[in-house]
Amino acid sequence: MRISFDETIQLLKKGEVVAVPTETVYGLAASLEHLAAIEKIFLLKGRPKANPLIIHIASAQLLKHYVTEFPPGFEELARAFWPGPLTCILPIDPSKIPTIVRAGLLTAGFRIPSFGLTLDLLKQTGPLVMPSANLSGRPSATCPEHIEEDFGKEFPLLEGGNCQRGVESTILLYRESEWVIVRLGALSAVDFFPILGYAPSFQQKRDDLQPLCPGQAFRHYAPKARLFLGNSHEMEKSECVLGFRERIYPNNKRVFLLGSIDDPKEVAYHLYDVLRQLDVEEVENAWIDMNFPKEGLWLTIYERLHRASQ
Ligand code: TXA
Ligand code: MG
Repeated sequence: MRISFDETIQLLKKGEVVAVPTETVYGLAASLEHLAAIEKIFLLKGRPKANPLIIHIASAQLLKHYVTEFPPGFEELARAFWPGPLTCILPIDPSKIPTIVRAGLLTAGFRIPSFGLTLDLLKQTGPLVMPSANLSGRPSATCPEHIEEDFGKEFPLLEGGNCQRGVESTILLYRESEWVIVRLGALSAVDFFPILGYAPSFQQKRDDLQPLCPGQAFRHYAPKARLFLGNSHEMEKSECVLGFRERIYPNNKRVFLLGSIDDPKEVAYHLYDVLRQLDVEEVENAWIDMNFPKEGLWLTIYERLHRASQ
């Protein structure tokens, strides 16, 4: 159910959960002040309690209240990329943030989204936790219809059209004297080079093999269809193809277009919608053209497709 900006503020302040747009993907928002609403998010999504939530704020000034230490380079990152699709994991005072939000960790993820409506909303509501607005394991939601698919037409939703980036924020964590990417996202490693003087590496596990980003350990982004990744022998067997506008695929295959092979931003923008379309059209198996560059934003696309196929 599409609700107005003012109704959204009222519901969030009352302790309700509302789906809210951002520039990356839609989020399921609850006020950081309302524990019952935060618990409801886990129930609604079917989200494991071991997977912490990102806290969304309107201004970096608010961080002082929660964060105990700002790692070197943090201010430069915040100045360069906030508001925007960057989440920073920072050490926090555990008495200031409910355990459920951070899954018991002594850190929390923070982000200032750049979508104007949401930034205005955050100024009115204060900090909001916001996981992506999808059932756990499903592709994230990038338009209002995706939320209706997962949560029904009656679910309260602030309309914001299609999300411009189409994939989630990039998550950075500071460890052993440098920043590392713990979830690939809308910003790529090279985007950080001018600010940090190095391109952060993608690291998934600690030395004891615990994930640096708990969400990476769970099944994700998957449609019901079986996905075959780029092995031409399997293209024969599959019903349809996920591919690029410039390429020619066998005539007898239905083609779902991801976008142009020259434009990873366009592919990221369409990615979850195409994966969700497979379910809407009850496709049982699909072959994905994985012949694209393995660099920049393409790496995020590669990782999402890879995980969707698992
Ligand atoms: O673009 C985005 O980040 C979207 C929009 C709505 O802002 N949100 C989003 O939230 O993708 P979610 O819950 O789907 O993914 C958050 C990820 C999870 O993988 C979680 O494990 C990780 O952030 N995370 C949260 N807190 C963390 C922490 N303290 N340490 C490591 N990873 C953390
Ligand atoms: Mg998610």
